[in-house]
Amino acid sequence: MSKGVFITLEGPDGCGKSTQSRMLRDALAAAGYDVVRTFEPGGTGIGHRIREIILDTKSSGMCGITEFLLYAADRAQDVHEVIMPALAAGRIVIGDRFFDSSIAYQGYGLGMDVEAVRAVNAIATRGLIPDLTVLLDIDPAMGVARATGGRDADRIERRRLEFHASVRNAYLQMAAGEPGRFRVVGVGDRSIDQVHAAIRREVFEFLANRASCARGQSQLGAREV
Ligand code: ADP
Ligand code: TYD
Repeated sequence: MSKGVFITLEGPDGCGKSTQSRMLRDALAAAGYDVVRTFEPGGTGIGHRIREIILDTKSSGMCGITEFLLYAADRAQDVHEVIMPALAAGRIVIGDRFFDSSIAYQGYGLGMDVEAVRAVNAIATRGLIPDLTVLLDIDPAMGVARATGGRDADRIERRRLEFHASVRNAYLQMAAGEPGRFRVVGVGDRSIDQVHAAIRREVFEFLANRASCARGQSQLGAREV
């Protein structure tokens, strides 16, 4: 079975994931890659309905465990319906959020047992781990302001700034703990195009290294025969 490449974009609310994941998809497609983009919560039809329940301000009575299991259910459907079939077909999948979001938001942000969050995630993802994760780092106040723009904040965005600050710190800690998988791109005052250029550099370098490893392995295989 051919195996594609799974790249995720992560970061606090409003860091630019939706904008950047679309730009990255277009850049990879223009370079000739077969690429598909998905997002969580809501990348599938079933996930879209789950997203509405989670983010609705009328869901204010929702407990943290329910919230977490809904994100996990959305993720299981995304893996089943979009991500696994695309990877099996050898495509590049760009995920706008994946399990690291639950570790950062429900684990560190809401204070749920991080090991339990990881264990449920492993069921939802069937053990799938991204090949590369780009963390877009942004000051949480700036991120929430950008995310809401002119519209009303959703249920998660309404949480206090300390919550969003702990999410940001969690992401930075996770990136430091897994330097092989994570690349951190600082957003700050950089324009959309400047951030895109930085992401593009990281991703194309990763793909080039991966291709040269694969070539190296196949040459080794040929010598062994
Ligand atoms: P996310 O998906 O992480 O919430 P979005 O891509 O939806 O972020 O961006 C949130 C808002 O911020 C959008 O209005 C977007 O146009 C704007 N935005 C994104 N990146 C930047 C940037 N580098 N500079 C200024 N505005 C940005
Ligand atoms: P998203 O649509 O990515 O929002 P944004 O573009 O503003 O970052 O995600 C909606 C919200 O869901 C966002 O506040 C982050 C939150 N979230 C979690 O708390 N846990 C999760 O596992 C996921 C996937 C998202």
